[in-house]
Amino acid sequence: MAEYVKIKLNGNEIELPVIEGTENEKAIDISKLRAETGYITLDDGFGNTGSCKSKITFLDGEKGILRYRGYPIDQLAEKSSFLEVSYLLNHGELPSKTELEKFERTVKEPTLPVEICALLDDFPKTAHPMGVAASAIAALSCFVPRENLDITKIDKDQVLGQLMESISIISARFFRHRQGKKIIGSDPNLSYVQNLYNMMFGEIPSDEVKKALEVLLILHADHEQNCSASAVRVIGSAQSNPYACISGGLCALWGPLHGGANQAVMEMLESIQADGGDYRKALDRAKDKEDPFRLMGFGHRVYKNFDPRAKIIKKATDTVLEQLGVEDPLLDVAKGLEKVALEDPYFVDRKLYPNVDFYSGIIYRALGIPTDMFTVMFAIGRMPGWYAQWRELVDFKGSRIARPRQVYVGENERDYILMENR
Ligand code: CMC
Repeated sequence: MAEYVKIKLNGNEIELPVIEGTENEKAIDISKLRAETGYITLDDGFGNTGSCKSKITFLDGEKGILRYRGYPIDQLAEKSSFLEVSYLLNHGELPSKTELEKFERTVKEPTLPVEICALLDDFPKTAHPMGVAASAIAALSCFVPRENLDITKIDKDQVLGQLMESISIISARFFRHRQGKKIIGSDPNLSYVQNLYNMMFGEIPSDEVKKALEVLLILHADHEQNCSASAVRVIGSAQSNPYACISGGLCALWGPLHGGANQAVMEMLESIQADGGDYRKALDRAKDKEDPFRLMGFGHRVYKNFDPRAKIIKKATDTVLEQLGVEDPLLDVAKGLEKVALEDPYFVDRKLYPNVDFYSGIIYRALGIPTDMFTVMFAIGRMPGWYAQWRELVDFKGSRIARPRQVYVGENERDYILMENR
């Protein structure tokens, strides 16, 4: 039976329908609220606002659950591959062998236009890799057939393949370019992850390194309506082309409160170490409301229990460091910081736990990836998720342009004052 909530505004009672998801999540549908009452809702940071219905990713922040298309993240991280997960996110089902082979060919086929390669080689070596990636993906839209910019004509799988291949070539090429090293082209005989590593380091990764990268990319592949996915959807709602949408997603991810946190965590751990390793000082600063400093890699808008990705990454960090024979003193700093934070009432009361970015940087570092490349590694993983979110949006009949309202709190009407009278 349909459920409704009744609210009383200005003496009038109205009924608003309750929408229920497949995991019993409930939402009040307020789409008729303004038309019927003149009121809007105000929700700074969208903490209580559902922006869409989605079949892609389910997460329960209280229970620490994350599933892609119904499959638990720990099973996917253990048993699947990044390419298979990319297919799953975009098509809704795990691929058959033939479907996966076809998808792999679609991803491997595209090459980067020579003009984009030249553009990459012209960026200053000091440029941030996220700025480079966002610019190069936007620039890619200038070198594709016009059909690729028309969302009614576009071949969606072909463009997904092109974007996945391009982001890995762009990141690896710029990584080598800024070190003044010879560029290594994409090798279609290698798997996606092997190829990425080979383009960066000029060698095929060991099985352990390959597995670690697969896991990291899988864990980052989607996370429902986060800041960058919402950016992709907002841009896409104007029927902008997917290159523009993804470039916008990259810009959103870059920020230190979102994907840029992995770089910020490493910089924080390094500064704690340089300061004698006293992580309690960092903890005190994070609790001080007069100090803008936050414990990077801690807290999450949605997870109020352990971030399930952080659990998997923490375990993987120990395994990878042991397999590679790497001893990183920053891991001890991170573990010490985590321990004291989890026992501290400030963090306990606010339900602040380590998030995905807290340990990921230690693995990237062990693999030889420099700190300012961490966020672009996240972006390589997130590409199929962004694309799946964009695809779901454009395939949804009746999707509307995203156009929030506001509560205006500025000046009331006043007359223009001539310059000489000001
Ligand atoms: N260090 C210290 N205090 C914190 C932290 C932190 N990392 N995170 C939240 N708080 C406090 C915050 O000051 C507030 O305290 P009070 O209630 O006394 O005012 C309370 O906890 C609630 O925080 P909020 O800012 O309202 O939470 P939010 O949901 O708006 O922000 C967040 C979520 C992830 C932006 C935030 O926790 C944060 O800034 N964390 C550090 C950056 C980070 O690690 N980001 C990566 C997120 S996971 C990866 C991804 O998004 O892709």
